[in-house]
Amino acid sequence: MSGRWSEIARVLLAWYRERGRATLPWRVTRDPYYTVVSEFMLQQTQVDRVLPKFEAFVRRFPGFAALARASTADVLREWKGLGYNSRAVRLKRLAEAVVERFGGAMPHDPAQLLALPGVGPYTVAAIRAFAFDEDAAACDVNVRRVVHRLVFGVEFPSKATQAQLHEAAAEAVPHGEAHDWNSAMMDLGATICTARAPKCLLC
Ligand code: ADE
Repeated sequence: MSGRWSEIARVLLAWYRERGRATLPWRVTRDPYYTVVSEFMLQQTQVDRVLPKFEAFVRRFPGFAALARASTADVLREWKGLGYNSRAVRLKRLAEAVVERFGGAMPHDPAQLLALPGVGPYTVAAIRAFAFDEDAAACDVNVRRVVHRLVFGVEFPSKATQAQLHEAAAEAVPHGEAHDWNSAMMDLGATICTARAPKCLLC
C-alpha cells in the first residue's frame, strides 16, 4: 500500500468496524467454503436475499465434502429462490474438484485456485482476501466504482481502463487487512458510494 492510501485505510477500516456489515455469516469466519458459497450466491443476488439462503445452504451442506457428495437435484432444491441455477451446478463442480484434487482443503496457490472450475480472477482474489487474509483486491463492480472515484474522479465517462482500476485497487489494500478492507470497500460501494445518488457529503 502506498502512502496516499494509508489515511483512507485508517478512516475506512474504522468506519467499517463501527458501521459496516461485519457480522454477516460469511464474514465472521475464515472458512474458504463459506467464502465460495457466499461469493457464488452474491454474484447476481443482493445481500439481503442471500442471507437466509446462505444460512440454510451451509446447514444442509456444511462443507466441500458434503456438497460434492450431494445430488445435483438436492443442491438445486436448496438453491431455490436464488435463481441463476447454473451457479449452483458450478459451485457443486468446484466442491468436487476441491475434494478430488486437494482432499477437501482449498489450496492457497493462485494458479491452483484459478484452475478450479467456476473460479475466475475475481473469485481467486476473494478467496485469498476473505479466507486467507492475503493482500488481494476483490475488484467487484462496487470496488471498481469506489476506486475510480477516489483515484480518477467521476467515473462517466471512465478515465481508467480495467487494468488501471485493478492496479489501483491492489495498491490500496492495507497490508494484513485484506479481509476487512475488501469488506469495507464493498459496504461503502453498496451503501454510500452508490452508483446512483451517492451520499458524497456523508463520506
Ligand atoms: N462480502 C464478501 N463478498 C461480498 C460480495 N461479493 N458482496 C457483498 N459483500 C461481500
